[in-house]
Amino acid sequence: MSNQVPRRLRLGMVGGGDGAFIGAVHRIAARLDDCYEVVAGALSGNPDRALASGAALRFEPSRSYTDYREMARLEAARPDGIDVVAIVTPNHLHAPVATAFLEAGIHVICDKPLAISLAEGEALARLARERNRVFALTHTYSGYPMVRHARELVAAGAIGDVRLVHVEYAQDWMAEADKQGAHFQANDWHNDPRRAGPTGCTSDIGTHAFHLAGFVSGIQPGELLAELHSFTPERVLDDHVQVMLRYPNGARGMLWSSQMATGCENALKLRVFGSKASIAFDQENPNELWLTPQGGTAQRLTRGRVGGAAASHATRVPAGHPEGYLEAFAQLYRDAAACIHAVQAGLPLPDAAKDLPTVIDGVAGMRFIDAVLASHAAGSRWTAL
Ligand SMILES: NC(=O)c1ccc[n+]([C@@H]2O[C@H](COP(=O)([O-])OP(=O)(O)OC[C@H]3O[C@@H](n4cnc5c(N)ncnc54)[C@H](O)[C@@H]3O)[C@@H](O)[C@H]2O)c1
Repeated sequence: MSNQVPRRLRLGMVGGGDGAFIGAVHRIAARLDDCYEVVAGALSGNPDRALASGAALRFEPSRSYTDYREMARLEAARPDGIDVVAIVTPNHLHAPVATAFLEAGIHVICDKPLAISLAEGEALARLARERNRVFALTHTYSGYPMVRHARELVAAGAIGDVRLVHVEYAQDWMAEADKQGAHFQANDWHNDPRRAGPTGCTSDIGTHAFHLAGFVSGIQPGELLAELHSFTPERVLDDHVQVMLRYPNGARGMLWSSQMATGCENALKLRVFGSKASIAFDQENPNELWLTPQGGTAQRLTRGRVGGAAASHATRVPAGHPEGYLEAFAQLYRDAAACIHAVQAGLPLPDAAKDLPTVIDGVAGMRFIDAVLASHAAGSRWTAL
């Protein structure tokens, strides 16, 4: 085995310019483990802002673009062109941007939801496979050590057969946004079906909850029954969704997501109940996981103390020194880097690939959205996934 340290990957970014939210988080995540250098970008839909944002990130002027298509073409032609692009635009651009970079032979790290339709998502999965490019999808919460430990515990049978899956993802920022009235409704892409896609809260955070539930429980529902709701008349898309789930093994589940849940900041919580024990994870306390055996006492398992390959792989500092959201995000970047290096070297995917969300998870998320829409439209009828 070679001891050579792989070079830093050259990362480009589409979206994430001045004033944007998640692009800056991606850049921190990419740099945290020193696996990437951020060298190029088409950072905004507004050309002046794109160039100013590129200058602020110290890009060479020739690598600060005002059009992502030109960026894909020119970066692919450079000997020192980017290896991978991070896509952090509103949802409607994920598929066209990813297509442009995959066609140029460039690996992709895309934010969720994968696309704004299932057909777009399936086309991306085909293209990534045909071009043999890594396509990571940043379902951030799967990067937490205690989430990975929970997945490992369930897979090893520590809770027995999975019977119940209960996941909730509650925020209150739309209740806040209502105070801004018409301005918010008119300007925010989250409320515009052309840019957000056919659902609001469901795509925005429901897909995270759906992914987390499957990631940890190891099972996927075969049917769901859903109701979408909007609490504000001017809001075109849902700000709340509640879903019942049936699994092929007989398990049952519930998922609800709301952006109108007053007092909730980023309350993503998962409980999985098995025949022998249950586990519980709360995203706002990510350094711990609760394991409760049937008839026994609840045990608080903590990051840095639990051991286990999955948690150790995703842990950076000793027990009691909190890690959080940025480290979870960085974990996805680190695992994606390992996969990209392997593909570039013509090697099989490394172990890191097994926990990295990809375009396949993105397609599952799009299928979830489609089933929720169909169920709701049919008066909340049980619908196959
Ligand atoms: N993984 C997570 O936890 C997480 C959290 C928040 C947002 N997201 C996702 O990230 C994406 C971006 O969300 P956000 O909250 O940062 O949005 P935002 O509105 O804050 O930022 C979007 C950025 O995209 C840019 N943009 C728009 N059109 C462009 C174009 N044609 N070319 C280049 N850039 C363009 C905008 O100028 C802006 O810089 C969304 O898909 C969202 O669902 C994921």
